[in-house]
Amino acid sequence: MSDFRLATRCARIKSSAIRQILKVTAAPDIISFAGGLPAPELFPLEDIGRAAEATLHEDGAAAMQYGPTEGYLPLREWVCAHLAATVKLQASPDCVLITQGSQQGLDLVAKVLLDPGDRVLVETPSYVGALQAFGSYEAELVGIPSDENGMRAEELRRILESSAPKPKFLYLIPNFHNPTGTSLSAARRKEIVDLAAAHGVPVVEDDPYEQMRYSGEALSALGALPGAPDRLYLGTASKILCPGLRIAWLVVPDRRGMGFQPMFVVNHGLEAHATFGFARKISLRARAAGLGSPWKSRMAVLAGQGKQSCPIQMMMPPQAGKRDLQERAARWRHSVWRRWLQPTYSARSRGGRPSSF
Ligand SMILES: Cc1ncc(COP(=O)(O)O)c(C=O)c1O
Repeated sequence: MSDFRLATRCARIKSSAIRQILKVTAAPDIISFAGGLPAPELFPLEDIGRAAEATLHEDGAAAMQYGPTEGYLPLREWVCAHLAATVKLQASPDCVLITQGSQQGLDLVAKVLLDPGDRVLVETPSYVGALQAFGSYEAELVGIPSDENGMRAEELRRILESSAPKPKFLYLIPNFHNPTGTSLSAARRKEIVDLAAAHGVPVVEDDPYEQMRYSGEALSALGALPGAPDRLYLGTASKILCPGLRIAWLVVPDRRGMGFQPMFVVNHGLEAHATFGFARKISLRARAAGLGSPWKSRMAVLAGQGKQSCPIQMMMPPQAGKRDLQERAARWRHSVWRRWLQPTYSARSRGGRPSSF
């Protein structure tokens, strides 16, 4: 027994699902699809090393000193140009915070916005790390069912028109969703934005996977659509550089006005300088384009495996029934969502093992 007594809100947190997932992935003989882990053999280690060395050589003292709380300015400027070119989101560097991964960004969002009992609308299923961050600030999570095109607008309408208290925000993963792999169609984006704006509910858009697109055109961020309500946007370098850098960006409508300013949490040092150095030399879009081919062929192998040898059926979305795996795989990018046809272990015997991967 410890003399420390946990805050009441922590009593709600039973264990970290992410920790459970990462524990399994540490075993060398396991390829886990439970988390969004990039393939380590594709990490650009030499280029990152060169960028870090150049930083130390050219700008070492500044990179190692305390810095502005919002993060390294050249990287924030680069983020703005990157978002304008990819998801058509216009933002000024003043409204960009560099965080230690999007996970910290999600925690910051929850810390700044949520009071106990506040309602947050989320897709069902949704990213476990976000659910945990919102839950740890004692939010009430309200699930909105999704289908092949993402969150179902008529279900969102039903919740928004109910007499329950107005939700604090709507949390969405618009592209290549974790865990389902689906993307919100252009029509759905418009419907959702219109509904959220009509009800004055801001949108928190978590977009770590857009850069992993290897076919088709990028769709505009929800926050970039005409008539969009206030929005927060999260992006990360984790998926196409490497998660170990812990570099991500949180774009807020007005940093000062939203209470983010006093938060001393940002990432401005060696990792931020090196990421900027990397992104300036080898644009992240060029890197993503180079990764498209290995991603595509791996997906084909995985889809084939699922067809031939797994004792389970890959299904997405669960409501859509069985369809040809290959055809579906062609539309997916990163996440694979599987449902056990016959439960292999019961909820009680699961022992922390995820039921989807
Ligand atoms: C939807 C989603 N948001 C956020 C994160 C966290 O990413 P980061 O490594 O930037 O903390 C992940 C990681 O898998 C994710 O899937």
